[in-house]
Amino acid sequence: MLVYNFISKISLLVFFLMPFKTYSILPSLSLFTAPRVFIALTGAQVVINKIKDEEPKKKECTFPGLAGTFPIKFLYIFNQLKEVQVAQEAGTDLPQGLNNRLLIHGAPGNGKTKIACTLAEKAGCHLVFIKCPEIMDKYMGRSAKKIKKIFKNMRERADVDKKIVLLVIDEIDVIAAHTESEQRTEHKAALQELWSQLDDIQDDPRFFVICTTNVENLLNEAFKTRFGNNIVEMPAPDETKRREVLQLYMKKCTGKLWDPYLLEKLVKASDDPKICVRLLKDYVQEILQVAKNENNGVITEKMALDVFNEMKAKYVADLIKWAESFATRENYRDVVQAIGLLRIITG
Ligand SMILES: Nc1ncnc2c1ncn2[C@@H]1O[C@H](COP(=O)(O)OP(=O)(O)O)[C@@H](O)[C@H]1O
Ligand SMILES: [Mg+2]
Repeated sequence: MLVYNFISKISLLVFFLMPFKTYSILPSLSLFTAPRVFIALTGAQVVINKIKDEEPKKKECTFPGLAGTFPIKFLYIFNQLKEVQVAQEAGTDLPQGLNNRLLIHGAPGNGKTKIACTLAEKAGCHLVFIKCPEIMDKYMGRSAKKIKKIFKNMRERADVDKKIVLLVIDEIDVIAAHTESEQRTEHKAALQELWSQLDDIQDDPRFFVICTTNVENLLNEAFKTRFGNNIVEMPAPDETKRREVLQLYMKKCTGKLWDPYLLEKLVKASDDPKICVRLLKDYVQEILQVAKNENNGVITEKMALDVFNEMKAKYVADLIKWAESFATRENYRDVVQAIGLLRIITG
């Protein structure tokens, strides 16, 4: 009995120590180790679908405070950040040879920016946020200069801080979309500056860079290869995620949950790849307001579905408008395909 107790204590110790030692050198073990680190450090829940030999691996994870599941890649990135962060705080050698870039793509409104910022926050990183449309300047050379300055500040920060500096470059397509247009010299200069800066910090684990884009199919191949395997799609919400998003925001707004019958009606009505998380979130606020104004706060089935369909139509119209303002004649088809509107536009 004594021996048995001793062995079980030792295995428990190994169980908790193993992730820190093995994750970076043995990525194949990460499936087993990563969830443990995550649970141990954050108390988060991890859902790993059962893996059968003959089936492709299907794995997802969850993050506290966010609805639905996420591709498992985010958990691996989280663990990598956490591992470096722990070493940095302890003053030990930092793990080397890690890919410190990630590209997140997918139709707008499904949480790309949100997950990037959540990773920074949950892993305790210092977040630096660049919104590409805001950094572009009409004066020649100014955008590149701004980028240079941001990286200079990041380096200074990393020298004095024990936190990883996590840079989110939001809507990178604004700079990095493939185009031969002559008028884009400013964009090319900005992109060149960005890559030279990113190459400088490539092997430095004190930095991590996440780029997001709605239109991955417009980014040139040379750009994408620089992310290696770290390219992940944020998919449109499945049934479970739609249900969880509706519940999460209803709970946030009212402290209560949806009437189960209405909730299922809405989950079904939103079964459409064009529906995004943002629309569902905005819908909850809108329906509560409409019900308050028109029916003493009571949501009827007709009201719930009418408001939903109205909002959906407006959302699609806005998306088309965005595509028209963003795309050129040559790449319009690629743009609408990336944002899930190809069938609507081409009939
Ligand atoms: N899983 C989620 N749970 C709760 N809210 C979410 C989730 N994903 C996205 N959101 C919310 O939906 C909105 C759109 O997300 P955002 O990250 O801006 O999308 P994207 O960057 O893909 O366009 C934001 O208000 C965000 O807080
Ligand atoms: Mg975004």
